[in-house]
Amino acid sequence: MSEDNSFFDIVESRRSVRIFDTETPFDHDLVKKALEASILSPNSSNLQLYQFIRIPETSPFKGPLAELCMRQKAATTARELVVVLTRRDAWKSRAKANYEYIKDATQNQSEKKKKQALSYYGNLIPKLYRKFPGWSLIKKLIAFFVGFKRPMVREVSESDVRVSVHKSAALASMTFMLGMKAIGYDTCPMEGYDSKRIKKLLDLPSGSEICMIIGCGRGLPEGVYGDRFRVNSDSLIKEI
Ligand SMILES: Cc1cc2nc3c(=O)[nH]c(=O)nc-3n(C[C@H](O)[C@H](O)[C@H](O)COP(=O)(O)O)c2cc1C
Repeated sequence: MSEDNSFFDIVESRRSVRIFDTETPFDHDLVKKALEASILSPNSSNLQLYQFIRIPETSPFKGPLAELCMRQKAATTARELVVVLTRRDAWKSRAKANYEYIKDATQNQSEKKKKQALSYYGNLIPKLYRKFPGWSLIKKLIAFFVGFKRPMVREVSESDVRVSVHKSAALASMTFMLGMKAIGYDTCPMEGYDSKRIKKLLDLPSGSEICMIIGCGRGLPEGVYGDRFRVNSDSLIKEI
């Protein structure tokens, strides 16, 4: 089997870069290219409950947003900031999109499989995502009692759904950052920001949450703060 190390080279060379070059040209179209690629990331139930809000250096929001990223250099020197939002609130339209896609699909899929997929988006997803008072606890209790009889997914509460949408948004973020590195640009993921003020500044939907904000640009050598450190992989990778 032939080996292509380019992926591993990109993974190795990516660093969180805190100071970006503000002088040389920056191609914002390449950010779009990396974002388009990141949409191919795996995501829970293919609901794609996230959104990227792009704030290029020319945007009137760029300065105030960098301020609310606690004036981190990774934000103030960024040529573009990408706010990665979770969009739990968009579940209905995304479930519908999947439902319609499966309904109209002409690929060689058995009728049984198609029916199962339609039931997944038509019945199960609404049960998991719909919201009304007490529903989160009821779901948890259902999982608890069903779990006595057979294996059962336990992560069904509202806070579990919240974790789930953040997982998918974070995976897309990672693909984006690796894509940027593959293109020749650098990034810095940030969670040091005032989410409340940013939601107000950017008029973000109340049902959304900020997963992370990613500073983008061509990194300067002094923007890499020291050698990379990781604890020994033995404590991170375990075989049982
Ligand atoms: C969710 C998340 C939030 C982070 N927040 C910040 C941040 O606010 N400011 C910052 O300088 N770096 C931030 N980082 C970058 C980490 O500090 C960095 O990834 C880590 O130290 C490992 O370094 P490396 O990315 O260069 O390998 C964040 C990373 C992640 C994944």
